[in-house]
Amino acid sequence: MNNWIKAFPEGFLWGGATAANQLEGGYNAGGKGLSTADMLTAGTHDTPRRITPELEERLNYPSHEAIDFYHRYEEDIRLFGEMGFKVFRMSIAWSRIFPNGDDSQPNEEGLKFYDRVFAELKKHNIEPLVTISHYETPFNLAKRYNGWSDRRVVDFYVKYCEVIFSRYKDVVKYWLTFNEINIMTLPFGTFMAGAMLPEGGGELTMSIKDNEQLRYQALHHQFIASAKAVKLGHSINPEFKIGCMIAYMCSYPLTCNPDDVLLAQEKDNLSNFLCGDVQVRGAYPGFAKRYFKEHGIELEMPEEDEDILKAGRVDFYTFSYYSSTCVSADPNQEQIGGNMSMGLKNPYLKASAWEWQIDPKGLRWALNNIYNRYQIPMMVVENGLGAVDIVEEDGSINDLYRIDYLKQHVEEMKEAIADGVELAGYTPWGCIDLVSAGTGEMKKRYGFIHVDKDNEGKGTLARTPKKSFYWYKQVIESNGEDLNMPEAQNTLV
Ligand code: BG6
Repeated sequence: MNNWIKAFPEGFLWGGATAANQLEGGYNAGGKGLSTADMLTAGTHDTPRRITPELEERLNYPSHEAIDFYHRYEEDIRLFGEMGFKVFRMSIAWSRIFPNGDDSQPNEEGLKFYDRVFAELKKHNIEPLVTISHYETPFNLAKRYNGWSDRRVVDFYVKYCEVIFSRYKDVVKYWLTFNEINIMTLPFGTFMAGAMLPEGGGELTMSIKDNEQLRYQALHHQFIASAKAVKLGHSINPEFKIGCMIAYMCSYPLTCNPDDVLLAQEKDNLSNFLCGDVQVRGAYPGFAKRYFKEHGIELEMPEEDEDILKAGRVDFYTFSYYSSTCVSADPNQEQIGGNMSMGLKNPYLKASAWEWQIDPKGLRWALNNIYNRYQIPMMVVENGLGAVDIVEEDGSINDLYRIDYLKQHVEEMKEAIADGVELAGYTPWGCIDLVSAGTGEMKKRYGFIHVDKDNEGKGTLARTPKKSFYWYKQVIESNGEDLNMPEAQNTLV
């Protein structure tokens, strides 16, 4: 027991995180079918992305080419290796393996693509951490079954898991069943995560029109699917570590008014702990049952479901953390954005250009808050600053603001480790620039590696290490001890 030491443990998994639909491109290559993400147009900070029920020729769909990792993975993985990554969080595009989701046979060409990616990672001693479903479902499942609202989709997902677990059982050890599963507690999750279609297409806004009853039913199906996947995975390879992934929505009470404090707790419960409790503890918590009752939500839940949830508890807890907001019982407070949800302005914090409030200490708070409840190993699998980067005339990209953001968050993780939190890894989001999930933009960049492509889809797709690349390399080399800017950071690899 030496957790009180303020240092990252030996073997800490430093790396970076991505998702297939935001990275790969090749949307119809190698037999891939259309996914829900392929139907989303590009938006901006002020213009929401649109969901089109059919592809329309004149529209810009950013996932179709994304950053073309599909053809450039060797170069990208080499650069990750150069930074010293120990782990790479990526997702498998379900529609590459089962183009329609309900096909009887998997698509061998899709499977071969990931064989190659995993082999390349191995070459660079990088461990894959695979998200099985990251905001994309075969679009046919949305059209034919209204996505996760239909329980049959559970079986399609489990079949998909069986195929990838068996195929990659010797090359992948770490799996996450669903990205940010708790986004299903918000209307925004309806299409993004639940693959349920708003009538006649529609816009991807925070307040997308949806049916709460159906959304919670769909979430329940995902819980069942996740639990079945955990059990199945362990039977295929007992060494597998299978985790949950939650978008940690960090909400402080705006004042010490007990009404604000209670509201913040309620938000923490419903937005974060509802999903965590089901996936880590294997049962719905009392406050969820109360919420369902008070909101007229009646879940169809065959008796066997209780046992399924119990038998499929996850091995570790992962989450994304970008920012925090406040809540208040007073309805006249000023709203501000955040990852997938809105909240109130915090007068002590500054916000990014996309209005996400920057709060490194919130990460320490979140780590303690979650660990105190579950006491299982954790990983921060997304964190980062979405910013506009300027390419200087000499080609360099001096993203000191990103280094500053990441440095402060790494420092707070170290504090949390000293507090006793069992933190096993850190994979900052969008380690290479990629398409923004929320807005579909390219100019909202998170990467250590710049990709030459703009919002309209123009650019050479050339990769260039930014200043943060050299900084992160040093952080990894020193296992989080040396967080200062290295002196000789300008040598291009
Ligand atoms: C998380 C998602 O919510 O946040 C990612 O898991 C997403 O897919 C990331 O890209 C950052 O959000 P955005 O909207 O800036 O891309």
